[in-house]
Amino acid sequence: MLFTLTYVSRATRDFTPDELGALAEQSRRDNAARHVTGVLLFAEGRFVQRLEGARDTVAALYARIARDKRHTIVLTTDVRDLTHRVFAGWGMGFLDARTMLNQEPDEFWSRLPDTLLDDPTQADSIADRLRALLG
Ligand SMILES: Cc1cc2nc3c(=O)[nH]c(=O)nc-3n(C[C@H](O)[C@H](O)[C@H](O)COP(=O)(O)O)c2cc1C
Repeated sequence: MLFTLTYVSRATRDFTPDELGALAEQSRRDNAARHVTGVLLFAEGRFVQRLEGARDTVAALYARIARDKRHTIVLTTDVRDLTHRVFAGWGMGFLDARTMLNQEPDEFWSRLPDTLLDDPTQADSIADRLRALLG
């Protein structure tokens, strides 16, 4: 059974786009080997990540990510079974708002984590929008 989990976290320090690119690249490789797909977004010091995959695999990966000292989990939102992957083919899509301001208005990026926190039912429409931005 496919499963998905989305969380919002706060970065514990500043990261350069290169540092985050390296993190995303490593995650992409590790996730692909575990058939985990999803997206990682960084905007205004916060991460939003959606994981998709087998329930046990996603749970184990999330436990590892949650222990990572580079961020602290703010809230885990939208945890449920899934019928199809939104990010099929994406071991871990990565979007850094700092380098994408021209693709969506500034407010879209700054509000996105709060939108998810305030209304988890928007998780799917947000995921679809992020998927479109990955190209
Ligand atoms: C915001 C954030 C997202 C991460 N996402 C993933 C991920 O999707 N897949 C992954 O393998 N590691 C991810 N990591 C890295 C893991 O936390 C961990 O450092 C990595 O899996 C190596 O773990 P290990 O040192 O225990 O082998 C993420 C880290 C952070 C800070």
